[in-house]
Amino acid sequence: MADLAITTHQLRKVYGDTPAVASLDLAVPQGEIFGFLGPNGAGKSTCVKMLLGLVFPTGGNGTLLGAPLGDRHVKARIGFLPELFRFHEWFTAREFLNFHGKLYGMSARQRKERISAVLALVNLEHTAGQQLRTFSKGMLQRIGIAQALLHDPELIFLDEPTSALDPIGRRLVRDIIRKLKAEQKTVFLNSHLLSEVEAVCDRVAIIQRGEVVRDGTLDELLAARRLLDIHVESMSAAVLERVKSQWTVATSEGNQFTLALDDPADVPRVVELLVTGGADVHHVALRHESLEDLFVRTVDDTGS
Ligand SMILES: Nc1ncnc2c1ncn2[C@@H]1O[C@H](COP(=O)(O)OP(=O)(O)O)[C@@H](O)[C@H]1O
Ligand SMILES: [Mg+2]
Repeated sequence: MADLAITTHQLRKVYGDTPAVASLDLAVPQGEIFGFLGPNGAGKSTCVKMLLGLVFPTGGNGTLLGAPLGDRHVKARIGFLPELFRFHEWFTAREFLNFHGKLYGMSARQRKERISAVLALVNLEHTAGQQLRTFSKGMLQRIGIAQALLHDPELIFLDEPTSALDPIGRRLVRDIIRKLKAEQKTVFLNSHLLSEVEAVCDRVAIIQRGEVVRDGTLDELLAARRLLDIHVESMSAAVLERVKSQWTVATSEGNQFTLALDDPADVPRVVELLVTGGADVHHVALRHESLEDLFVRTVDDTGS
């Protein structure tokens, strides 16, 4: 197994009497894109803050890039885009990055070179001299990403990096994440946009009430279950009952329903049952479970 960029062991944070993070065990291999998912209030942001040393854990421990949590030397190798980034809006984009470059301890020469590089990366070179107050939400989110990447970190935390972006901006961020992976960086991505997570991540963990309820590579998680989308007209209740007696109905809405199949070879049997029962079959498609299907099922299963 590759070296681990992040590990946590029974990491815990309690506010008052309430655990925000109950007991979290994570292992994120170096060079992977890791999706950190969970319903609102699951403890994701608290966990990220503990990893970054912004919140002190109540219990447990962990490592970042091989060093114990809170190690000051490691901070210089980490980039962070917080979910709610506060901008000094009187700065121009270039001044803002220069300010952060100084905070990172970069030399004037390094700053000059890297600021040009990250502005080009997020496609904001042409507005480098513009004040941030004139920026749209999407432009601010992109300049925030530029800030997180300015010092060329090895491990990057992105908390909802695309929430304010339009489809073009999202594609840009997806390309940036892929580029980071090609440079063997590790990305810890927190996002509600599951189709995007599915498009870029190697591995995900789904947490609920501050504990991991499902984790693994996307390939192994999504290959486990096949779904059959079906659109039928004029299906009798009796036929539906027969379908239900043999297969699990994952979802249903009007004349469309989706079966969860253990064995893809069941498809002809499903169709035969419908047709011989007098239903008009308009559409049948077998597919892998999507990350969204898995997420909804996992979070429901554990009684959220
Ligand atoms: N500073 C805090 N003080 C008290 N409770 C908090 C604090 N931060 C988070 N919480 C609580 O901890 C739980 C997890 O929050 P959070 O980590 O923000 O979840 P997520 O990012 O997954 O939505 C929530 O119930 C939240 O209300
Ligand atoms: Mg959060």
